[in-house]
Order: sequence, then C-alpha cells, then structure tokens
Amino acid sequence: MATHAIAAAIFVLCFLVHLGAASSTSSAASSDATERWGYVKTRPNANVFWWFYKSPQRVSSAVKPWPTVLWLQGGPGGSSVGRGNFQEIGPLDVNLEPRNLTWLQNADLIFVDHPVGTGYSYVDDPIALVTTDSQAVEDIIELLRVLTKELPTLQQSPLFLVGESYGGKFAAMIGVAVLRANKAGILKVTLGGVVLGDSWVSADDHALSYGQLLHSVSRLDENAVAHTDRLAGIVKEQMLVGQFAAARKTWTDLLDYIDSRTDSVNMQNFLLDSGMNPVLAQGLEESSDSAPNKIVSIMNGIIKDKLKIIPKDLIWQEGSIDVYNALANSFMKPTINEIDELLSSGINVTVYNGQLDVICSSIGTEAWIKKLKWGGLKKFLTLPRQPLYYCDSSDCTKPIKAYVRSYQNLKFYWVLQAGHMVPVDQPYVAFKMISSVIMHES
Ligand SMILES: *[C@@H]1O[C@H](CO)[C@@H](O)[C@H](O)[C@H]1NC(C)=O
Ligand SMILES: *[C@@H]1O[C@H](CO)[C@@H](O)[C@H](O)[C@H]1NC(C)=O
Repeated sequence: MATHAIAAAIFVLCFLVHLGAASSTSSAASSDATERWGYVKTRPNANVFWWFYKSPQRVSSAVKPWPTVLWLQGGPGGSSVGRGNFQEIGPLDVNLEPRNLTWLQNADLIFVDHPVGTGYSYVDDPIALVTTDSQAVEDIIELLRVLTKELPTLQQSPLFLVGESYGGKFAAMIGVAVLRANKAGILKVTLGGVVLGDSWVSADDHALSYGQLLHSVSRLDENAVAHTDRLAGIVKEQMLVGQFAAARKTWTDLLDYIDSRTDSVNMQNFLLDSGMNPVLAQGLEESSDSAPNKIVSIMNGIIKDKLKIIPKDLIWQEGSIDVYNALANSFMKPTINEIDELLSSGINVTVYNGQLDVICSSIGTEAWIKKLKWGGLKKFLTLPRQPLYYCDSSDCTKPIKAYVRSYQNLKFYWVLQAGHMVPVDQPYVAFKMISSVIMHES
C-alpha cells in the first residue's frame, strides 16, 4: 500500500466500554475492514495494543480452516507491531512498500505490543508493568478473550503462536494457558500450534553454548573459553538455587566479557560485529547519525497518524528498558516444562533456529530439547535430519539450505545463513517453512 493510500483511507472508530469486570476496549478499522486495531484494558492501568490483518488470500472451509498467526516479539520489550510487522513478516516494509513474502499470504496476522509498556501499549501507572511472565501471559489470555468477540474469524481459525527470542518463551507459556482457559470455559480458541524461533527457552543451556560455539567459529580465543564457561557455570548454579535476578546479572557480565574478548561480536550473528546491547538492539536498522532510524520515524509519524487512537504524547520505541527491567526476576526462568506440556497435550510444536545465532544458539536449543520428558524424544533424537533446499527464483543454482527433523508433533528446522531473526535473514525460507507448518503443506 502506498503512503498516500494510507492517508486517504477512511477510518471507522468505535468505542466500546464495558462496566464491571470485563475489559474496556477501544478499536478502529480500515474502511474495507481488512485491518483492525485497538486497545484492550486487560487490567486496571494496563492498555495492550493489538493490530489485526485479514489475509486477501483468505479461503476457509470446515475441512481446512484458514489459520491466524499471533506474532510475539522478543526483548522482553521489543515491539511486535513495529518490528515483527514492518521489519519481518507483515504486509508492508519500513518504506511502506509491499513485502513480497509477507506471511499474510498464508494466514491472518495479529501483532501485539506485549508485555504492556512495549511499543504502542502503555501503562497509566508503572505499577501495572508485569514483573512475572505469568502476568504477561494473563494479559494475552484476556486480550484473546476480547479478540474472539471483536474478530469474528478468530473462533473458527486455528491460532498459531509464533514467538521470536523472548517471544518464544511467551508463546510456549501462552500455549499452555490457552489450553487451560479453553478447559475452564474462559476461552474458545483452537490452538493450531506453537512455533519457537531462536527462542529464549533455557537461559543456562544458551549461556553454556557461547564458549564452545564462538571458539569453534574463531570469534573467541581458546584462553577466553575457560572464563566464558566459568561465568556460564555460575549462571547455571544461580538458576538452580532460584537466584534468577543474580543469574541475569552474571549473564550480562558474560555478554560483556564476550564483547570485550571478541572485539564486539554480534550475538545475533557471529559473522557480524555490533557494539550494541544484544538483547534490546534487535532492529537491523541500527540508527546512525547519517541514516535516521526508519522504523522509529514511521511508528512515531505516518503509522501513528493512521491508527488515530495512539495517545499523542506516547513515544514509540523499538525496545522498552522499563519492561525489560521489570521482568528481572523472571528473565532467566526456563520454559522447558511448558513445552513438555504442549507436546504431551498433542499440540504441534515447531522449533526453528538460524545457524549464525549466538544468543539463542542451535547448540543451546538442542541442549534443552534433550531435557524434555516427552515420550517421543528418544526416537526424535535418533532420526536423521532431512535436507531442504529453498530457491526463491527459477535459477536455482544457489539454494538456501535447511535441515528438518520431525517426529510425531515435534519439528526442528535448522536454517543455514540466518542469524537470530530468520525471517529477516532468509525471508523465503521462513515463508516456506511457516507455510508448511500452518497449512500442513510439504
Ligand atoms: C518483489 O517482487 C517483485 C516482482 O516479482 C520484484 O520485482 C522485486 O524485486 C521483489 N522485491 C524484493 C525486495 O525482493
Ligand atoms: C500437526 O501437524 C500435522 C502435520 O503437519 C498435521 O497433519 C496435524 O493435523 C497437526 N495436528 C494438529 C492438532 O493441528
């Protein structure tokens, strides 16, 4: 959609206020109703912003209902509505040009700025920031409860929770919470599956992988590996005794040490350098004095104007340090048990990892997978991986390769030539992979 089309669109605003326990919501839609967005007050002082896109390709039948993807960003504190939408999988890129490989071709999309305080979501009082992952998950359950009323398509549509980085941790927890809320009659949502992209599932397994990985790719000298592993060992011990805030502090020290000994390796891609905070600096559009940051400028300019309901004084940021800090005691807590619960409940779980990622490396991911209690694990681990070749054009001399291993309801894709954000580095592979997962196409 060209920018003038956005400006020319007519918006219908409707404000619904429920009294009592129910959430108050405000929402708006594009004139053709293919987009809706709004705020849900999930709790007092907590205003969660969501944005829904209906797919132009949507065809739905009883046998093959059209899927919906809920995209959960990392951080915690990264904006799904900004980054996931405009920099990864949404219909428009940061230049507001159509994205060829938008996931909207395959699914309706929902972006949510979550946890509250992130992106366009805001708190009326800092006390409403979440301090535990569970509180963050409850906000999403309340959001989904409201959205099943607001979006008529959602009840018949298998919902895929797709999380990147810390968003993967939320995706697993939300998956379990959706199953419980369905059982309790609070929600009526068909959980299609949970997809974990370079996900922060098990902090110690990731921390313990850094030394080995960075040494094997020549980014860390052998002498530095011992101290790297020592710090990672302390992270693990602190986690074992429940000192999660202390473990995060040690993990941050570990990142600083790696930074100093690698001349600033980019923890999201070991082929690159970066002097930036690896957790919050997830935007590839790194701002520099010469190139003003595009995403920041559209989110505080043309997009904010289009949406109409964003408070005037709200300044959109790529990452919220307040949200990140408020979760200090939760950040290092693993979600392996939740993934086990999803697997034993028969939910399809897909894991994908970029080869070049360090922060949530493939080695770390393999390590937590080995800790699953899931009955299919033994067999899963013995199966050979199947090579996949992805080529985006008729000239297929240089396909991008991936491997997949699949057994029962667990799938693992290893994606080559991709870092922490697979849809950014290998959009075609990510697109084909998600098609296969949500449309059950080979
Ligand atoms: C998108 O597709 C069009 C038409 O196939 C092509 O000309 C263009 O280069 C593509 N854009 C990108 C960014 O790949
Ligand atoms: C899980 O995935 C398989 C294969 O992709 C598919 O056939 C099956 O229907 C899915 N199960 C559920 C519960 O969605």
